Amino acid sequence: MPTHQRVLASDPVLSLDAYRDGGGGRALDAARRVEREAIIDEIEASGLRGRGGAGFPTGRKWRTVAANCTPTLASTVVVNGAEGEPGCFKDRSIMRVDPYRVVEGALVAARAIGADTVVFALKRTFERELERIRDAVAQAQAAGWSEGLTIDVFAGPSEYLYGEETGLLEALDGRYPFPRVAPPYRRGIDEVLATAGDVEANSSSAAKVQLAGPDGETLGPPTLVDNVETFANVAGVIVEGAEWFRSVGTDDSPGTIVCTVSGRAPRHGVAEFAMGTPLREVLEVVGGVDIAQVHAVMTGVSNALLRPEDLDLPLSYEHFAAAGSGLGTAGFIVFDASSDLAAVGAGVARFLAVESCGQCTPCKQDGRVISDELATLVGRRPHAVEVTNISARLVTVADGARCNLASQHQSVIGSILDRFPEVVNGHLEHKAKATEPELIAPIVDIVDGRVLLDQHQADKQPDWTFDAIDSGRSPADRLDDHRAPHEVL
Ligand SMILES: Cc1cc2nc3c(=O)[nH]c(=O)nc-3n(C[C@H](O)[C@H](O)[C@H](O)COP(=O)(O)O)c2cc1C
Ligand code: SF4
Repeated sequence: MPTHQRVLASDPVLSLDAYRDGGGGRALDAARRVEREAIIDEIEASGLRGRGGAGFPTGRKWRTVAANCTPTLASTVVVNGAEGEPGCFKDRSIMRVDPYRVVEGALVAARAIGADTVVFALKRTFERELERIRDAVAQAQAAGWSEGLTIDVFAGPSEYLYGEETGLLEALDGRYPFPRVAPPYRRGIDEVLATAGDVEANSSSAAKVQLAGPDGETLGPPTLVDNVETFANVAGVIVEGAEWFRSVGTDDSPGTIVCTVSGRAPRHGVAEFAMGTPLREVLEVVGGVDIAQVHAVMTGVSNALLRPEDLDLPLSYEHFAAAGSGLGTAGFIVFDASSDLAAVGAGVARFLAVESCGQCTPCKQDGRVISDELATLVGRRPHAVEVTNISARLVTVADGARCNLASQHQSVIGSILDRFPEVVNGHLEHKAKATEPELIAPIVDIVDGRVLLDQHQADKQPDWTFDAIDSGRSPADRLDDHRAPHEVL
């Protein structure tokens, strides 16, 4: 049986009672009976790594947040349900199928770090998932699961940066999702302790908020932000134990991972696999892909493209990193011989340049140049672009970047230029297939085995309007009062 159902059940769980009948609720009971430290020890021993893309060790993060708690104000747990990585539909699938498992994981985390608030942060466009999470929260509250806790469900904006954890905290505080310098364990949400004297590194970020710290009473509390799938793994670890969790997967990437397959595949879909499973098996089982036809695979818009010789890679953070790429959120977009990777690169560059907030000048400006020149290359317009200019901008685009978006240009576009030089040459020699950038956009649904992409992405301008003509101003400049309601986005 190549697939697993640890976090993605085969049938939807429709009520808290049904969840309990299947063994749900035992993790929370167990967590309430033991010291907080013991919960964190078990999560750390399991080796669970965050499923939001970076694979950060979850136990270490929980320990850091717990260590930074303040004596007077309780911390907050935030469930990152903002899924916006092109090629990924796994968090939304988990929330649709079994939101109770996510709720239980978040409540266990709240107990572990001594939080008094849990926030489920989704996008307001995620109507089905919002309904499922709200129902699950209401049932959990009615069952007494949330005693002593405030639980909120937040319906946020559609921006890609809303998924970046500090951008998400900004949105929860009522501002635009512009990433911060300070990490969540140093500065959480809710500016109850705002003071006029505080200094922020960049004036376009929310200012006047004290950084959280372990000692002083005047400091604000930290926030734990984890991905939906990360929380969905918690109950299993607590009930079955760290060794059970490690019974599948690799030493450095234990457990399972929920994968999405889309692109040039006979069918699109989502399924959960043991870490260590060869990538080719995921493509074959989920997508029905003929491996001999695969020309390249892209993991979201965050990592270097994989070549045909990489298809035996075991699913793991370490194996993908060793291949010069990254596992990310295991959203695999497949390309075959009919694909034009220059057009794909132009689509990725456009997506990243549009979604950049512009707080860091090179990210927005170099990103736009990379996007424009790749579009020119693909459009075969009279003046052939200098690919060297794209390469030069790739060197500087991430200078001074406060979040990872800028370096995603380097990983994806750099890999296309390095690993597939023939596609660029094809355009320069006017032998290429595509004449315009490929649409790279978040998945909004999967219907009858095909993904539906967010078509609005094609009309979004780099100033975050949908006006016919871009103003040329970056979102950070255009929205610089930071106080306008996020609903306008
Ligand atoms: C541009 C950008 C977009 C991101 N989008 C998401 C997202 O939609 N969902 C998510 O869980 N993490 C996203 N992340 C990662 C989060 O910042 C953060 O690492 C994650 O929520 C941490 O949870 P984890 O440790 O459980 O993985 C994004 C990061 C960046 C740089
Ligand atoms: S790196 Fe780019 S997206 Fe991230 S904060 Fe800076 S300008 Fe915004």
